[in-house]
Amino acid sequence: MDIIAIANQKGGVGKTTTTVNLASALALIAKKKVLMIDLDSQGNATTSVGLDKNALEYTMADVLLDGVALADAIITTETGLDVIGANRDLAGIDVSLAGVSDAPFLLKQALEQAQKDGKLDYDFIIMDCAPSLSMITVNAFAATDGVIIPMQCEYYALEGVADLIATIEKLKSINDKLHIRGVVRTLFDNRNTLAQDVSAELIKHFGDLVYQTSIPRNIRLAEAPSFGQSIFGYEKSSKGAIAYHMLMNEVLTQTAAR
Ligand SMILES: Nc1ncnc2c1ncn2[C@@H]1O[C@H](COP(=O)(O)OP(=O)(O)OP(=O)(O)O)[C@@H](O)[C@H]1O
Ligand SMILES: [Mg+2]
Repeated sequence: MDIIAIANQKGGVGKTTTTVNLASALALIAKKKVLMIDLDSQGNATTSVGLDKNALEYTMADVLLDGVALADAIITTETGLDVIGANRDLAGIDVSLAGVSDAPFLLKQALEQAQKDGKLDYDFIIMDCAPSLSMITVNAFAATDGVIIPMQCEYYALEGVADLIATIEKLKSINDKLHIRGVVRTLFDNRNTLAQDVSAELIKHFGDLVYQTSIPRNIRLAEAPSFGQSIFGYEKSSKGAIAYHMLMNEVLTQTAAR
């Protein structure tokens, strides 16, 4: 089982779009068993797959705060993905967990318990993080094997990422498997010279960690969530679908090499 966190504390860089479409590609095209976990109180990943985030029996908040078994919060969706949803119940988690000694490990413990109970039969778990380095993101980093960082190639792209990398480095002390699995260029416009320059910077900084596939700005990717569908359900011949299919191939190649 491969546990991947999609994270960048910068907002609006394509984390959720990458989570939903990478997870969907793995499930629909590669026929892998995939669990998508929404770790953002905005609940965008949850609604993107057609779920009503305010009508769920259990969400990640129940798992992390109320001890609901993780397996009991799993929802099977029509998009071919299994999902654990989130909504604004997750928003107060940093306050609720203040002073809880094993606070960083709640997600890891919940996953381990589900596995022990034989209820976590997945090839991939893909987790959508919120745009922050809050305790919930720390929980994701404690539970994950590798982090995929979506980055938009714009002027300030590299600035915020230093904090993210520092956090990942620091948290290696609580999770020795934690590493940056890859950096994916999102909302990419290859005709834009600034984007080309920033892309070159990224490659200089991250080297081979930058996926060869970049995700173009594609209106179909922005439209799909409002239909509760991944890009593969919404328009599988779009440029966005082709890009996420290629990204999936790179991710599978990484998994095979592990
Ligand atoms: N490649 C793309 N082409 C066009 N639109 C995109 C693309 N990727 C993301 N978007 C749109 O850009 C917006 C931000 O994307 P998304 O929600 O995936 O980012 P995020 O990093 O998850 O944001 P947040 O930090 O708020 O969680 C959304 O409206 C989304 O539909
Ligand atoms: Mg998001």
